[in-house]
Amino acid sequence: MRLVILGLPGSGKGTQSTRISKRFGIPQISTGDILRQAVKEGQDLGRKARRYMEQGQLVPDALMAELVILRLQAKDCQRGFILDGFPRTIAQAKTLDGLLKEKNIALDAVLRLQVSAESVIQRLSHRRLCSRCGADYNLLSNPPKEEGRCDRCGGSLRQREDDQAKTVARRLQVYQRQTKPLETYYRDRGILLVFEAERGVEEVSAEIIDTLKSLACAELVKDSTSSG
Ligand code: AP5
Repeated sequence: MRLVILGLPGSGKGTQSTRISKRFGIPQISTGDILRQAVKEGQDLGRKARRYMEQGQLVPDALMAELVILRLQAKDCQRGFILDGFPRTIAQAKTLDGLLKEKNIALDAVLRLQVSAESVIQRLSHRRLCSRCGADYNLLSNPPKEEGRCDRCGGSLRQREDDQAKTVARRLQVYQRQTKPLETYYRDRGILLVFEAERGVEEVSAEIIDTLKSLACAELVKDSTSSG
């Protein structure tokens, strides 16, 4: 299954992608995670991307295209993937189209998480990450047992740099201006699926997984009719 997940910063793309990845056995490709790792390791990509990320701006399309083209060539993507955070501009969507066309494959669906700006501001200001193992906590919806400490490894919890209020405001503006047009782009192709994501993680996840299971069954039926 080949999927893209779209939504405002903090709408739950990472949370839901992790679940989809486990349930369907496909890799989650989070461009945000790949970039953060590159920054942490002082890679050339990280050095180039850092200032954009700190300001809540998008990293240039050319850098992102290079990264994604390389990642999608990996063997684990042969059975499918979920792209979390890519594409984010029409130019990136066209790069992806070209890449898939070359391989003679197509996206099965684009999942769009629908949530208000007020909710994501709340979620992002309460997000905390373990500085050692990266586990995600939310002081509102999923707090740690001990304040400031990771339940899993005891590491200290910290706020993501771009979750500062001013940077969140910029990220929301950037979404409206540069990423929102992708909703129409994929709706016009008939592959956009919208999920109401104000609800709790479990509820949202159950609905997405049910929908994807039906989609996977329909694909199997289509394949067997066309081959027989
Ligand atoms: P990226 O890491 O992709 O950030 P983002 O899109 O802003 O998304 P987030 O990771 O903040 O939120 P999310 O929607 O994944 O929500 P999550 O599940 O974490 O990108 C960061 C930066 O990298 C960009 O600003 C840009 O600079 C650069 N970049 C990345 N990709 C790029 C590209 N393609 N082109 C150019 N630049 C790029 O949840 C958030 C919080 O809410 C968590 O605490 C979670 O526990 C909680 N939560 C989740 N779901 C629920 C729920 N249903 N109810 C209550 N709480 C919930």
